[in-house]
Amino acid sequence: MTTATSGVDIAEEILALKRKRNAVILAHHYQETEIQELADVIGDSLELARKAKELDCEVIAFCGVWFMAETAKALNPTRTVIVPDRHAGCSLVDSCPVEMVRAFKQKYPDHVVVSYINTSIEVKAESDIICTSSNAVKVVNSIPAEKPILFLPDINLGNYVKEQTGRENMRIWQGACIVHTTFAARKVMEARAAHPEAMVVAHPECPANVLSQAEFIGSTSALIKFCIESERQSFIVMTESGVRHSLVKYAPHKQFYFVTNENCNCSECPYMKMNSLEKLRDCLESLSPRVELNPHLMEAARQPIERMLAVK
Ligand code: 13P
Ligand code: SF4
Repeated sequence: MTTATSGVDIAEEILALKRKRNAVILAHHYQETEIQELADVIGDSLELARKAKELDCEVIAFCGVWFMAETAKALNPTRTVIVPDRHAGCSLVDSCPVEMVRAFKQKYPDHVVVSYINTSIEVKAESDIICTSSNAVKVVNSIPAEKPILFLPDINLGNYVKEQTGRENMRIWQGACIVHTTFAARKVMEARAAHPEAMVVAHPECPANVLSQAEFIGSTSALIKFCIESERQSFIVMTESGVRHSLVKYAPHKQFYFVTNENCNCSECPYMKMNSLEKLRDCLESLSPRVELNPHLMEAARQPIERMLAVK
C-alpha cells in the first residue's frame, strides 16, 4: 500500500470519527498540509481562540500546540478538547515558569502583566491581560500610559511592541521562539539578493534585525492575507513554512520563498509538526490526549483572555 493511499484511508477514518464524535477540527497554519486539508477552520492563535469560544459541538479536536488547546478549553469549558500529541509544546511556554512570574509579581506588584497567548494556563491565570501576535500593540495601548508593564515571555515580540507603542515603562521577559528567533538577518539579505523583486514579510517573533528588513509584519493570518491581497507577485516569508498551504491555495500564481533558520536548515516548528493524521485519528477514537483543567485555574485564566477579546 502506498503512503498516498493510506493517507486517503486515514482521512476517511477521520471524517467518519468526526461525525461519530460530533467534533470540529481546528488547525493552526503551522500544521502539516494534510491536517489543514481536513480542518473545519484554519487560523492564527487569535482566530482559533475566538472560534473555539463559539463552538457548540461536543468535541474540539485542536490541531496546534498544547497552550492553544488549553485556551480553547478555558473559553469553552463544557466541550471536550483533544490534541493529537500531548507533547506538542512551545519553547515560549517553557521559557516562562509560573513560579518565576509569581516571584516577579511579588517584587513588582504595581506592574500590569501582559502575557502572550504562548504561555501555560497557570501563567495566564497570573496575568492581567493576554495578547496574541495580531493584537499585542492594541492590547498594550489599551493599558493606561502611566502603568508599568511586564510583557512576557517573547523578547522579540516584546521589543517590537515597545517600539510600536513608544512605551518606555515596559519590562520584557527573555523568552524566545526556537523557530523565529533563529532566523538570521544574513539569510534574509541573501534571499533579497537572490530575489530582488520579492517583498519581505515577517512574523513579530523574529529578531529585530530581521524585522527591520521586513516591509510587512504581522500574525500568521495577517501575513497570508497581506500576500494574497498585495499587488506584488513574490514574497520572502519569514515565518514557519506551514503557511505555504494557504498561500499556494489562495495565490497559486505568486512566488513564495522561505528562508531556513540557523538550527536545522528548515523553517518548521518541531512541536507543531508532532501532530500527524494518524495521531488525529487516534485521538478522535480514544478522546485523548484531552485537556483537563482545574475549574478555579480555568476561571482565573479565562478572565485575562476575555479581557483581550474585548479589546477593540
Ligand atoms: P500566530 O498568533 O501568528 O498564529 O502565532 C502563533 C505562534 O505560535 C507563532 O509562532
Ligand atoms: Fe512556539 Fe515557536 Fe512553535 Fe510557535 S513556532 S508554537 S512560538 S515554538
